[in-house]
Amino acid sequence: MEDLLAPAASATAAREIRLVARTRCREVLEALPARWAAWAKSADFSARPGELLLLPAEDGEVAAVLAGAGAENAPPSIAPGALADRLPAGTWRFVFDDAPHVPPALAVLGWLLSAYRFDHYRGDENRELPRLAPPEEVDSESLLAQARAVCFGRNLVNTPALDLGPAELADQARALAEEFGAEFREVSGARLRRGYPMVHAVGMAAAEDRAPRLVDVRWGDAGPRVTLVGKGVCFDTGGLDIKPSSAMRLMKKDMGGAATALACARMVMEHALPVRLRVLVPAVENAVSGPAFRPGDVLRSRKGLTVEVGNTDAEGRLILADALAAADEEEPALLVDFATLTGAARVALGPQLPAMFTDDDALAARLADIARAEDDPLWRLPLWKPYMEDLRSDIADTNNIAANGFAGAITAALFLSRFVDRAGAWLHLDIFGWNPKARPGRPCGGEVQGARAVFAYIREHVVS
Ligand code: BES
Ligand code: MN
Ligand code: ZN
Repeated sequence: MEDLLAPAASATAAREIRLVARTRCREVLEALPARWAAWAKSADFSARPGELLLLPAEDGEVAAVLAGAGAENAPPSIAPGALADRLPAGTWRFVFDDAPHVPPALAVLGWLLSAYRFDHYRGDENRELPRLAPPEEVDSESLLAQARAVCFGRNLVNTPALDLGPAELADQARALAEEFGAEFREVSGARLRRGYPMVHAVGMAAAEDRAPRLVDVRWGDAGPRVTLVGKGVCFDTGGLDIKPSSAMRLMKKDMGGAATALACARMVMEHALPVRLRVLVPAVENAVSGPAFRPGDVLRSRKGLTVEVGNTDAEGRLILADALAAADEEEPALLVDFATLTGAARVALGPQLPAMFTDDDALAARLADIARAEDDPLWRLPLWKPYMEDLRSDIADTNNIAANGFAGAITAALFLSRFVDRAGAWLHLDIFGWNPKARPGRPCGGEVQGARAVFAYIREHVVS
């Protein structure tokens, strides 16, 4: 990651990436040397976001580039800077004169995030990457830390379930904890069955070396308590309510919430924010075998509420409920969970927009602003209390699904809300964790969503 940046001092020798706002495109082209102006015209360059025009030197090398930065009234975006995968090797620098609406920090972040490739299972291509001499005014160390965290999370999501089961996910969390001197604890076996009975129930059909567990990381010894919880379903077959193959195909990403919580934790730790951080990851495989939990089973949760299993494919909320209950016991100032929880959230908002749920209007409003400013978007959906009764069970305190199928993302969030009473504020993010198609700075495949926004919120508002 560090290789992607050159010392700011090397900027004088660097080639220019001239970012061009749509409205300024014509005047920029008119001011170019005639040769380049003609070239831009024949290439039909119009400064669309992500559009790139290489400008040739006499010797045929690339002398400079124009990069489309889109409309000046568009929301802040990492896209204009997302060029590290498209430029020839060498040192580059951004010129913002013709795109004053582009926040330099986001451009640098786009640069860092666009170089990502998941090449673990491929032969070494030995790419020679370009380097960026960052603008003086940006905090490069912070941006590097954020990009490192995102790419760490992307790697976790992209790693197939064969190589990233509950044990390996826990190992990754342990390695992260060690890197930052955090305390690491793992609960499994009989202690899991007692302390986190629903995590145990969901995970018990998996093979012995893929047994369920609860990862518990603590870091920092002063400041407000911030607890992050991430859904760590390393593979979701649906359980006995098995998914059809098309719906199962991407389910290695069902630990995307865990990857995102760990990525967010990484940002907090690397910035040494003055908080008492805790990360809880229930790590399981929702498998099919004799010991699998069944439709109609009633589980007694950590909190004591009994839960009738209406559908074994609604497993995420079961494991999160026990983790949230444990988190809630120590009354954190802020409790955030990240989860690839429902297909319904995707139907409502699509893959780019995680749904956020909270009863704290001020938190929601502030986070929406931050998410937009950071180009890590979130969209609020309501915790609509009247739908709670749809979760009613005839024989237990609650069912894990709403039988009528309405508002699936909301009823899932309402289910979780029953396990949180004492946290200062609770935020639930229902994420997709995956880019179905590549966009600038967001390559196809595993994605970390919401971690930068939540990190920025913690940095600006939780830490006083
Ligand atoms: N992991 C899935 C949700 C999911 C599916 C997220 C596809 C992103 C993409 C979750 O465990 C699940 O299966 N949810 C069910 C709930 C239903 C049984 C009430 C769903 O959304 O269909
Ligand atoms: Mn499921
Ligand atoms: Zn799932």
